[in-house]
Amino acid sequence: MPTDTMPQSKPMKLVVTGGAGYVGSVCAARLLEAGHEVTVVDDLSTGHADAVPDGARFVEGDAAETARTLLADGFDGVLHFAAKSLVGESMQDPGKYWHGNVLTSLRLLDAMRAHGTPRLVFSSTAATYGEPETAPIPESAATRPTNTYGATKLAIDHAISTYARAHGIAAVSLRYFNVAGAYGRFGERHTTETHLIPIVLQVATGERDQVQIFGEDYPTEDGTAIRDYIHVTDLADAHLLALEHARAGEHQIYNLGNGTGFSVRQVIEACREVTGHPIPAAVAQRRAGDPAVLVAASDQARQRLGWKPERTDLAGIVADAWRFTQDHRAAAHPA
Ligand code: UFG
Repeated sequence: MPTDTMPQSKPMKLVVTGGAGYVGSVCAARLLEAGHEVTVVDDLSTGHADAVPDGARFVEGDAAETARTLLADGFDGVLHFAAKSLVGESMQDPGKYWHGNVLTSLRLLDAMRAHGTPRLVFSSTAATYGEPETAPIPESAATRPTNTYGATKLAIDHAISTYARAHGIAAVSLRYFNVAGAYGRFGERHTTETHLIPIVLQVATGERDQVQIFGEDYPTEDGTAIRDYIHVTDLADAHLLALEHARAGEHQIYNLGNGTGFSVRQVIEACREVTGHPIPAAVAQRRAGDPAVLVAASDQARQRLGWKPERTDLAGIVADAWRFTQDHRAAAHPA
């Protein structure tokens, strides 16, 4: 795997919660390649044990409960990925999100405080903004989440700000836009898939007959919703930079996206080109809570972290996801 463009920093001893999940596993792999010592904590409720990268220590268990014991050993920081992250589910079962996301994060913050763990990098989300008033969205935009998932992540961001100030924790929240692509053997494989690119690729593999386009009456050029797709490796590298730039007592918040939006139809077209499959599509109702356009202004991350996304081409992002999908299917169903 390429390591040439990887951010360099002094080796740290780190806990990665949710390191058996999609973004967490890619980040854990990049951290190891950069020379850090990584302990993955994951309850495997949505992650996969075989996604924990080689070289990481793996402890199976609840993020907060396990960290409470682990952190006593003295760690330089925590990267907190473990979370419930399905928007639809968060509306049907809000308690699962308030307990699973907010309570767990508060307990983790308390454990960090108790053991003097100095750094935290937190996976926040564009869903904290809700329906945006401007595009692209800067960090100064109003935060009015339209779903429980975004509300829980925003509540955690508020808690982190106060803990950072009061207890000197060096904290960085990264607000992800639409994460896509894969890195080596690490990629997106959810039991319940709701994300556009993996669903479209499932049509190409024959697992689904067609993709549904959720709404064609948005105020956009082709009528379908626009999102900012960011390669998971670029996203992971922002975490490495965040660790380096975290400052005691400060809570920095950065949006992470490419700053370019693609419509649902453009994504499907890119998948057709990459896979060579016709990918039938049918227009369906809008999905509740979906904003028309979500595009990031990531100038802050570029200026203050020195972050520069390297893999911004949509076809390239889709090609990496497609290679991962094919490799994973071949491993799951050997010929
Ligand atoms: N879509 C379809 N058909 C599908 C699936 C999705 O048309 O089968 C559409 C959605 O309606 C949306 C777009 O494709 O317009 C992208 O949908 P995703 O489900 O892939 O991603 P979201 O934009 O809904 O949400 C993702 C993350 C959130 C994050 C958000 C920020 O899941 O956590 O990006 O941009 F907050």
